[in-house]
Amino acid sequence: MIEVTINGQQRRIDADPDMPLLWVLRDILGLTGTKYGCGAAQCGACTVHVDGAAARSCQVRLGELAGRRVTTIEGLHPEGRHPLQLAWIAHQVPQCGYCQSGQIMAAAALLAAKPNPTDADIDAALEGNLCRCGTYQRIRAAIHAAARAQS
Ligand code: FES
Ligand code: FES
Repeated sequence: MIEVTINGQQRRIDADPDMPLLWVLRDILGLTGTKYGCGAAQCGACTVHVDGAAARSCQVRLGELAGRRVTTIEGLHPEGRHPLQLAWIAHQVPQCGYCQSGQIMAAAALLAAKPNPTDADIDAALEGNLCRCGTYQRIRAAIHAAARAQS
């Protein structure tokens, strides 16, 4: 039994310590906002926060998480109104949407560390988050808008 805080709630999870966090989230806890893209640390679709830092949940094992804090897209804001989520809607960022929860979680970790990121900061922080629909320009614009809204 492994105790992890997920989206502010203490959870006791009875599963193989080698199970990737992504499987725990989706298959055990039903938190399907976090997506499976590649399973190999290549796409960023599965990005969540572990102790506030962006992490690829397909690469983090449940056994590494005892006593730690995980936040998923479902826990970013209680009503889905984090400044990034509002900016994503205002800028109509998603196309198919598959990569977008990972994009938002990577952007949220960036804004928490750097409230006013430059284009270069954004490109560096999100370079591993792939979007096959090519929404990169709108992602960048929405991050700048969210930064302005927060300041
Ligand atoms: S599913 Fe984790 S990086 Fe692609
Ligand atoms: S919106 Fe389709 S993969 Fe990014």
